[in-house]
Amino acid sequence: MRIVAANWKMNLRRQSALELASRLKADGRQCWLFPSFPLLPAVAQAIAGSGLLLGAQDVSPEEDGAFTGDVSAGQLADAGCSLVLVGHSERRHGHGERHPLLLRKLKRAAAEGLKIVYCVGETLAERQAGRAETVTGEQLGTLQKLDESERAMIAAVAYEPVWAIGTGENATPQQAQEIHAGLRAALQRLGISAPLLYGGSVKPDNARELLTQPDVAGVLVGGASLDYESLAAIDNAAMEA
Ligand code: PGA
Repeated sequence: MRIVAANWKMNLRRQSALELASRLKADGRQCWLFPSFPLLPAVAQAIAGSGLLLGAQDVSPEEDGAFTGDVSAGQLADAGCSLVLVGHSERRHGHGERHPLLLRKLKRAAAEGLKIVYCVGETLAERQAGRAETVTGEQLGTLQKLDESERAMIAAVAYEPVWAIGTGENATPQQAQEIHAGLRAALQRLGISAPLLYGGSVKPDNARELLTQPDVAGVLVGGASLDYESLAAIDNAAMEA
């Protein structure tokens, strides 16, 4: 079965999030939902007893205390999350998050029992310079610093080329497969057998072809996950792939 993860980013309000979550639950779908922090408890309640899983989009590297604006892994677990995104490119590039900080976030999440979706991806300049594999390989290298029990908390690794996120320009299935094959081998060397997701302008009309690549085990969807019809169409493609 292919994984469909919905990254709602800083979108939706309580009512629209609840409507979307309730419809997915009524369908018996098993997507992974990543709402923004304030929506987590309401969505947790809406999807209780379903096959849908709840995740947060970010996590503090700290355990508790005076860290204004941050949300701890323990608080996320308490709010009903079983998953968390770490290393999304909008955190790496919009907030300057790099290896040492990401490593601390990974360790905190794992310590609180949250499963992790770790994101990697190259910029357009890096791709044009022929460095896509090197950059994603280096980003994956952060996982090397995790111990065995922490590595077991990696639920998935998402390859999201920065130039494809929110731009309407997706990697071709061949480009995605090429990078995924490299990441798969690197993960194997780390003893991690987590599935690989592709993200970056996944839409109903390109999902099927991406999802039928041998090393694409699922998709991480931003914009197209905000609308029930398009998310359901992508999920249908995933079930048929
Ligand atoms: P997008 O976002 O589908 O809107 O390109 C994907 C992501 O950033 O996770």
